[in-house]
Amino acid sequence: MKFLIVNGPNINMLGIREPDIYGTLTYEGLLEYLKGEAARLGCEVEFFQSNSEGELVTAIQKALGRVDGIVINPAAYTHTSVAILDALKAVSIPAVEVHISDVDSREAFRQISYAGLACKHTIKGQGFDGYRQAMVWLKAHCS
Ligand code: DQA
Repeated sequence: MKFLIVNGPNINMLGIREPDIYGTLTYEGLLEYLKGEAARLGCEVEFFQSNSEGELVTAIQKALGRVDGIVINPAAYTHTSVAILDALKAVSIPAVEVHISDVDSREAFRQISYAGLACKHTIKGQGFDGYRQAMVWLKAHCS
């Protein structure tokens, strides 16, 4: 199986941004961790991160016919973006939504997820391991 792991705005600032919430590991560290975990699962993985909503939409569109599953942390766009929701619906690729923090225990606006409406499963508050759990879930449910 091949997965696309998509991260939205400010995820490239991991390690610097609010370490009390998101931890001290960098985005590059996250990618290294996930490359190793994907290999252990016998899966291929590619990564995309952008701070722009349109680029995230285009990356989801370009995944059509190329990947078996999408792991997506739309970050702040989770709570605002109908465009990302529609892109996920358009490609119909099985998707799992991931949030590093426990969005349910934070501000009320973080408890609304548009993208999540097009995802088969959501993992929140598991830190970086949430992305690994999402790959495991996709492998178990969508292969
Ligand atoms: C986040 C939670 C969002 O509310 C926030 O805007 C982010 C990261 C998370 O991974 O916990 O940027 O998606």
